[in-house]
Amino acid sequence: MRTTFLLNGRNVTADTSPTTTLLDWLREEQALTGTKEGCNEGDCGACSVMVTDADGARALNACILFMPQIEGKAVRTVEGIAAPDGTLHPVQEAMVEHHGSQCGFCTPGFITTMATAHLNGATDHDTQLAGNLCRCTGYAPIIRAAKAAENAPIPEHMHDQALLSAKNIPGTAQTGTEPPTTPDALAKWMDQNPGGTLVAGATDVGLWVTKGFRELGPTAFLNRIPELSGVTISDTEIRIGAGTTLTELQDAIAPLHPSFGELIRRYGSVQVRNAATIGGNIANGSPIGDGSPALIALGATLHLRSVDGPRSLPLQDFFVYYGKQNRAPNEFVEAITIPRQADHLRCYKLSKRFDQDISAVCGCLWIEVQDGTVHTARLAYGGMAGTPKRAAAAEAALTDQPWQEDTVRAAMDALSRDFTPLSDMRASAAYRMETAQNMIWRCWTEDQGLATDILDVTP
Ligand SMILES: Cc1cc2nc3c(=O)[nH]c(=O)nc-3n(C[C@H](O)[C@H](O)[C@H](O)COP(=O)(O)OP(=O)(O)OC[C@H]3O[C@@H](n4cnc5c(N)ncnc54)[C@H](O)[C@@H]3O)c2cc1C
Ligand code: FES
Ligand code: FES
Repeated sequence: MRTTFLLNGRNVTADTSPTTTLLDWLREEQALTGTKEGCNEGDCGACSVMVTDADGARALNACILFMPQIEGKAVRTVEGIAAPDGTLHPVQEAMVEHHGSQCGFCTPGFITTMATAHLNGATDHDTQLAGNLCRCTGYAPIIRAAKAAENAPIPEHMHDQALLSAKNIPGTAQTGTEPPTTPDALAKWMDQNPGGTLVAGATDVGLWVTKGFRELGPTAFLNRIPELSGVTISDTEIRIGAGTTLTELQDAIAPLHPSFGELIRRYGSVQVRNAATIGGNIANGSPIGDGSPALIALGATLHLRSVDGPRSLPLQDFFVYYGKQNRAPNEFVEAITIPRQADHLRCYKLSKRFDQDISAVCGCLWIEVQDGTVHTARLAYGGMAGTPKRAAAAEAALTDQPWQEDTVRAAMDALSRDFTPLSDMRASAAYRMETAQNMIWRCWTEDQGLATDILDVTP
């Protein structure tokens, strides 16, 4: 399969299998070994590259990026960050100046992520660099370096968007077969390829290949289908295409439902959010995915599609039991819609690490109070059952009751009838239950004006 793109400013065409990762190709076929392999599963950022298209530049993990995902785009590796005459990029200068590197293994990944943030004018350095791990230098000098470079001019050679329009990159893969580029074509493809694999952001599927060594068989890449991506906001609803990345969703949803925006900020890392799609996050059926509890609490509807036409259902009904979703083999997720409504959502993510970690428990609580009485309660949890699930007993204990302490206590008690959580490496069953109950308490105390901060531990 041939993929054409810009690599450090020059046109290249790669002839690879569809599941060759960009990292392997760079290191093995191009001898561009500056891009490092650390974890090979999206967790450490050592393989970070900058990828640019018409929507802008973003940092991505090359270890879980398949070659067809970069068709028609511009890739810049650490070898292309300094100017062609060797002049260091301002973030490279600053890393030297501030002693931001010791063994140097993580440094290329930091440099590409920092250079991408610098290009985009992003100065929330803790967030931008949460997906890059350093084992020896420590983060303070690295953050100091990123800060020091903030106002330096962007070097001319970093403007890959301008280069892309000048260099006439085709933008569709040369596969020998016609890849689906519209939802209709995808529906047909799925009908003709039962059991075929859909690849959206590959933040799950990438690991099936790099860690599970799985052969994917017939594969369709959803990044070729523009109609599946993007968020449309009307007076009555928010429509989120299945191929919308978590970064795009965060930008669109944070002004309307800030707590969902903050939940997404804690989803993986910048590199993961730039790749992962909300459709993949739902379709994988994970009981600990962060998107579904928030969307269920918002009253979302899921829209599926196949050659037989569209089908819609409440998102909560999509999850049947662990590993089983209400989706026919020839159906794909097309979109999710949420009603436009005043905001009553609070999302709480509990994980062992604050950044870049999967939830032990994720509670998303929609509690709408009118004249002191709970009018609507939709409490959706991840990590408490084999699927993302609503807490029907706790909701009943809240609905039509005065929004006061004894009601909240009753809802917390009722929650123990809703779930029988498991113990695993992330949390014990008892811990899960207690913290899920405390999320209702936290929601109430916050509503009473008591600020809570899980990063501020007081004795
Ligand atoms: C380092 C790391 C950190 C992570 N952190 C988090 C986290 O904090 N919170 C969290 O919730 N998840 C996290 N994840 C998991 C992952 O990002 C999500 O599950 C992701 O949203 C999957 O989306 P994708 O686009 O990458 O899907 P892919 O990997 O491309 O696909 C996942 C599955 O969904 C199917 N699929 C994709 N799109 C569709 C569609 N439109 N219709 C039907 N089927 C489809 C695929 O065939 C596949 O079975 C993390 C993953 C990594 C690697
Ligand atoms: S090698 Fe660790 S994120 Fe890619
Ligand atoms: S400098 Fe050694 S891991 Fe970061």
